[in-house]
Amino acid sequence: MALHVAEIAEKQLGQMGEESRLSVDDKAMINCRADLNQLIPFKYMWAWEKYLVGCANHWMPNEVDMTEDLNLWKSKDGLTDQERIIIKRNLGFFATADSLVANNLVLAIYRHITNPECRQYLLRQAFEEALHTHSYQHIIESLGLDQAETFNMYREVPSVATKANWALPFTQSLSDPLFKTGTPKDDQRLLRDLIAFYVVFEGIFFYVGFTQILSMGRRNKMVGTAEQFQYILRDESMHMNFGIDMINQIKLENPHLWTESFQNEMIKIIKEGVELEYQYAKDTMADGILGMNADMLRDFLHIIANRRLVQVGLPKQYKEVENPFPWMSEIMDLKKEKNFFEKRVTEYQTGGALDWDE
Ligand SMILES: [Fe+2]
Ligand SMILES: [Fe+2]
Repeated sequence: MALHVAEIAEKQLGQMGEESRLSVDDKAMINCRADLNQLIPFKYMWAWEKYLVGCANHWMPNEVDMTEDLNLWKSKDGLTDQERIIIKRNLGFFATADSLVANNLVLAIYRHITNPECRQYLLRQAFEEALHTHSYQHIIESLGLDQAETFNMYREVPSVATKANWALPFTQSLSDPLFKTGTPKDDQRLLRDLIAFYVVFEGIFFYVGFTQILSMGRRNKMVGTAEQFQYILRDESMHMNFGIDMINQIKLENPHLWTESFQNEMIKIIKEGVELEYQYAKDTMADGILGMNADMLRDFLHIIANRRLVQVGLPKQYKEVENPFPWMSEIMDLKKEKNFFEKRVTEYQTGGALDWDE
């Protein structure tokens, strides 16, 4: 026993001293062997900065008053049948989608991203996903919707189920406790999951629902619901941009992973995502509504998919078309994004209302 303690002490002494301190060069996005418990020295400032912005954007769902939404929901002619379907479908999809994202972060991605700055952001993101699920629960409860029906839509309503089912294999592959990165094939599995979740799931699958609900808010309908969706969209824009930064940094450090066949596979999954989201748009709005229809949403999806493709270094796949929802670009447009965040952060911290103007 005494010998064992002496051995540990000797080993620790060997690891002590300034010469054994962690240096920036020891840090890497994946497969890093350096001490992961030390946040500093910083290497990936973009991750730390996004963590700080995420904290500054903090909000709580139960602070949003739902009285007007409940009155409108209960009134006989305040909402059309189609508008009610849109609200229910979106709550059905999002109520479980954010749990799926949170579980992917915590159970699949976290342990394979080997640097503390990114992990700091991932922890913040995981909490934000919990707030989003809380938000949908708050809306569902405030409106008195059938909770079992809503939370089971991701298994029972085809266009909702298809999106969740599409994402599951990517996360299941990584959450296998025996899975480890370290070979090109396994590192590509991680990169594939990151693209499926950050680019397709959070970057494409959320956007028909966001556009529909925010469009309602602009028409002064379901304002409490729309306000929460706007806070969520602000968070999601940040998640997606963080994910794209991670993907690009991994590519930079591991260029051998970005083979032509892998690139073609990524283009294929992004295009599949666009197609599924278009099906969702058709399913939720068979007829035109709220000044929009499924074809306009398809054009919008093509615009955002082209943007995502270029952001991760892939060629555009869709013809350039005019943006049918220019009012969404205040939130979406990357050039404006920083201003958008700064403006909203100030408003939130002073307790001001969100601004719906174009
Ligand atoms: Fe979320
Ligand atoms: Fe998210």
